[in-house]
Amino acid sequence: MTTYKIAAIPGDGIGGEVISAGVEVLHALAKREASFGFHVDHFDWGSERYKKTGAFMPENGRELIAGHDAILFGSAGAPDVPDHITLWGLRLAICQPFDQYANVRPTRILPGITSPLRAVTGPELDWVIVRENSEGEYAGVGGRVHRGLPEEAATDVSMFTRAGVARIMRFAFRLAQSRPRKLLTVVTKSNAQRHAMVMWDEIAAEVAAEFPDVTWDKMLVDAMTMRMVLRPGSIDTVVATNLHADILSELAAALAGSLGIAPTANLNPERKFPSMFEPIHGSAFDIMGKGIANPVGTFWSCVMMLEHLGEAKAAARLMRAIERVTADPSLHTPDLGGKATTAQVTAAVCNALLGDNTA
Ligand code: IPM
Ligand code: MG
Repeated sequence: MTTYKIAAIPGDGIGGEVISAGVEVLHALAKREASFGFHVDHFDWGSERYKKTGAFMPENGRELIAGHDAILFGSAGAPDVPDHITLWGLRLAICQPFDQYANVRPTRILPGITSPLRAVTGPELDWVIVRENSEGEYAGVGGRVHRGLPEEAATDVSMFTRAGVARIMRFAFRLAQSRPRKLLTVVTKSNAQRHAMVMWDEIAAEVAAEFPDVTWDKMLVDAMTMRMVLRPGSIDTVVATNLHADILSELAAALAGSLGIAPTANLNPERKFPSMFEPIHGSAFDIMGKGIANPVGTFWSCVMMLEHLGEAKAAARLMRAIERVTADPSLHTPDLGGKATTAQVTAAVCNALLGDNTA
């Protein structure tokens, strides 16, 4: 029997609640499958640790998790710690050194969930957004001079490398090719940003030549927001820069019903380092400790983790269980307009797993 070693990092806010729900569901799934199990190590890295020790994770933190098969991450962010400190101290401190350059964000309207788009019922919104996750606007290049003086100046420079753009394009084309519609939209802003974004477009065209069976188009990011709202069915796979995709994926999550459902995979496709799976939602301190956080974003992230581990059958089983539960409005948490608790949704998914008769 295979035992997958998982590093669980619940982080801040509702992170702890959704990650323990996710771990519970993973164990229930392993029991149902019987062919694999999970060994979960918990790491208490996050803002509490930062406030006590000055660091979100220990100095050898990455060493402690480098040998795990996958990382399950909750959320990072606390009201009394500046957001950029948190982001660079924990999430990016894992993503960037582990070269998790492909951030994958699927969006679908799950059964039982209503899109805020009047005319959209389900099948016409089925997207995967690929976010460049290692450079671009999140490269951390820039600085501040004349701090606090009237002449203070600050820069945040987006850094794009040919290697970085080519690998994310290749990843996105390959993903688009694996999906039935073989359709990719390359998001850009090469009208206003005339250096890096123009290089981005050129590399897209070069890589496209390697994938003659993929239909692709190019879209300015502002026009893309409109297309997502007005013509969702014209979109399938999307590739965009770190910041563009950050924004588009939040819009996508809202259009699919709730940020509480949306999953992410931070992948190191070469598998030199472990990949990291996390719900898109943040730490949501306003509902922390109330037991009403939506665990579906974490469960769906677990599906992505299972796919990455090569457990496609188990991934499909977990996705079926999630969809059976979302189909029942009495099992919706408050973000979906319901009254269900995290524990009720978790128990329902575990029950659906045990009752799933597919071989
Ligand atoms: C996301 C989030 C993060 C990001 C925040 C929490 C820094 O919005 O994963 O989409 O911008 O990358
Ligand atoms: Mg975001």
